[in-house]
Amino acid sequence: MKSSWPRVEPAPQQPERLPIGWDKPWLAPLAGYSDLPFRTLCREEGAACCVTEMVSAKGLWYDGLNTWKVLETVPWDTPLVVQLFGAEADCLGWAVRRLREKGFAWFDLNMGCSVPKVARQGAGSAMLRDPDNALACARAMIAAALPGHVSFKLRLGVSRDAVNWLDLALRLEDAGAGLVTLHPRTAQEGFGGRAHWEAIAEAKRRLGIPVLASGDLFTAEDGVRCLKETGADGVMYARGALTRPSVFREHQALLGGEPAGEIPAGELRRLIRRHMELIGSFGSEDNALYRLRSIVPRYVRSLPGVRLLRQKLCACRSLDELDGILDSFLAGSPGLSGPSGPSGMSGGAVRLDKFDPPETSCGPDAPMD
Ligand SMILES: Cc1cc2nc3c(=O)[nH]c(=O)nc-3n(C[C@H](O)[C@H](O)[C@H](O)COP(=O)(O)O)c2cc1C
Repeated sequence: MKSSWPRVEPAPQQPERLPIGWDKPWLAPLAGYSDLPFRTLCREEGAACCVTEMVSAKGLWYDGLNTWKVLETVPWDTPLVVQLFGAEADCLGWAVRRLREKGFAWFDLNMGCSVPKVARQGAGSAMLRDPDNALACARAMIAAALPGHVSFKLRLGVSRDAVNWLDLALRLEDAGAGLVTLHPRTAQEGFGGRAHWEAIAEAKRRLGIPVLASGDLFTAEDGVRCLKETGADGVMYARGALTRPSVFREHQALLGGEPAGEIPAGELRRLIRRHMELIGSFGSEDNALYRLRSIVPRYVRSLPGVRLLRQKLCACRSLDELDGILDSFLAGSPGLSGPSGPSGMSGGAVRLDKFDPPETSCGPDAPMD
């Protein structure tokens, strides 16, 4: 018997603290991707904490079914941070209270997404245009939550000539923020160029609250290097986790002095199969098939023959058939190469459009954040 949908059952005992540390890598919020099955997979692979996809505070206000679907969770899906977006202080404060009634305890506010649908409401990265309103929103959330239970995920500013993250972060700290995550690019930069990690180092120097690093963490090597170069309190893997959920385990191994190597085809098969199982166990077969048609290719996107694989997956009609297609695809493959190999994941080479969400809460018009 499949679980009902959406199943919103947070852990009855919420953690009093979030796990923060170099050896505690997080899964970043990923609209269209960081759903319950993927979070479960990442936790099994060593993610110490997960953030939901961004959730519309207004959507909660209108009690939208699609909004509650984004919040699907089960008791073992913990520690979990709910990321909200919105630009109205009353609505955000109300949303935190409503979510607390449901049993959620940890909250984050998106101050980085530049998708037009979000930015048009003055939310996401558009909050950086109006720091006073951003602060009013932050205060409303903080007042509605337990002390230190609200965090903020920022970009540097809307553009290079309007970089204002530090001033805002200092004000957020003053208002009672529990932690700050910085994706050190401007909204205008989208996902282009390189993330300016030096801003993360500056955040560490200037703020007393924990700072999590995000941006160009494609491999465990990137994550560990970022920690060492910036002194951040922890990292969040985003695109790195999408193609390689084992990045969390590799991160911990690397800190223990063990270099990350290749993912052999057998291991890749195990990861994909597990993701398939998890999707199957939380939804209907039709839904699972729909999601898997776009999820499977992303794991093997650096291997030859992916285009043909996509075509075959689109034509397949059952999970068994999909399983068979994947088996024969991987049979001749050596697996994914290590961090600096031809997977193309190092050095910011990944194109965001390769990650257009299959059924995102904010549409496929990337860039997101
Ligand atoms: C497909 C996709 C969806 C994302 N969705 C969100 C989101 O809902 N909320 C958010 O704060 N950031 C979101 N981000 C931004 C990531 O959390 C992260 O900050 C960004 O990708 C930089 O990290 P990376 O370069 O290591 O991928 C998204 C990024 C991608 C690629």
